[in-house]
Amino acid sequence: MSSDGPESIFDVEFRAVTKRFGDLTAVNAVSLRVHQGEFLSLLGPSGCGKTTSLRMIAGFEQPDEGEILIGGVDAVGTPPYKRNVNTVFQQYALFPHMTILDNVAYGLKQKGIGKTERYGQAREALELVQLTGREKHKPTMLSGGQQQRVALARALVNRPRVLLLDEPLGALDLKLRKEMQIELTRIQQQVGITFIYVTHDQGEALSMSDRIAVMSNGVIEQLDTPSEIYDRPLTAFVADFIGEMNFLEGDITATSAGEFDLVTSTGVVVRGRGDATNRTRARIGIRPARLSIVAGQATGSANTAKAVVDSKMYLGDEVQVVATLDGGTRMLIREQRAGTDDSHDAIRPGDPITIQWERTAPVLLAESPDQAPTEGDSHE
Ligand SMILES: Nc1ncnc2c1ncn2[C@@H]1O[C@H](COP(=O)(O)OP(=O)(O)OP(=O)(O)O)[C@@H](O)[C@H]1O
Ligand SMILES: [Mg+2]
Repeated sequence: MSSDGPESIFDVEFRAVTKRFGDLTAVNAVSLRVHQGEFLSLLGPSGCGKTTSLRMIAGFEQPDEGEILIGGVDAVGTPPYKRNVNTVFQQYALFPHMTILDNVAYGLKQKGIGKTERYGQAREALELVQLTGREKHKPTMLSGGQQQRVALARALVNRPRVLLLDEPLGALDLKLRKEMQIELTRIQQQVGITFIYVTHDQGEALSMSDRIAVMSNGVIEQLDTPSEIYDRPLTAFVADFIGEMNFLEGDITATSAGEFDLVTSTGVVVRGRGDATNRTRARIGIRPARLSIVAGQATGSANTAKAVVDSKMYLGDEVQVVATLDGGTRMLIREQRAGTDDSHDAIRPGDPITIQWERTAPVLLAESPDQAPTEGDSHE
């Protein structure tokens, strides 16, 4: 990721943007910079403000506070049709009585572009979405996935600076969704247009995006690359929303040189890396794959915890164990079977075990984004 020099121009920039609907703050002082040619996803649960953010970029809603810049220029007061952005919705709303070619060429016709030229450009856009040969068909003769490709071609034919996509694959079944995810990333790379992609599907966001803005309650909790979001979630919300996570809470009892000791109420000592404040309460997360199991209950050293097995399940190459710590906290452990010794096969529900982990496994979490370390707009 390129660094943000003062000379950088962002395709879209939010400067402390707030949008309210009556008493409800749908988007709360959000700042965001989208790089040229980037695939950026807005990810978060229902009602967190994703669509409202997109609609403000498109110009369908006006912010109550803050500024929105498109291509470095203040967009406030510019009507939607004069903004160099196009939107693809979940409901693709093609004109049913028009051919595919006319559907795609429609926007160019509105702009007064002549027949030969607009059909030429529409054919190119259809080729890009791999629908060459379907020009004369009507939308109802196409599958859902193909209709969504037409909607995409109809937006791309305008060559917008930014394409906004609001859950565009939401209406498709899982198999088609997967295919279209691959298609969309290919198309985005081919045309080089900035994509701002709204989804509540974390797998989709992780696999497609250059960066992800994880949203909750109208704020961006974290803005980072998929691997950073997964490996180094900043807040408890992000850690919980993305993938599976085990949480432990306790008191910070020691800190030195970027390391900390956290002690839980039942005496488990978590020794990890991160800047914690001594004598505060804190929460850490550990991914299930970072935990391993030893049969029997060894006496407590740091980064081990005594537990009792609740269930064990074979998932092909992996074995998944759910176990309960003293005090009742449930832990999910996922181990590669190839790396484990035979003693795992003998583990049964009710057996005492020791769960252990490396010092690099615990991730120190903030309760809210303002406690989190500064947002990584660029890093390294
Ligand atoms: N026109 C409106 N009038 C009143 N409230 C609105 C309006 N549009 C959105 N809201 C509210 O603003 C909040 C954010 O809505 P938004 O549509 O941006 O959420 P979202 O993240 O897109 O959710 P979803 O995943 O369900 O589409 C919600 O609480 C919603 O009810
Ligand atoms: Mg929405």
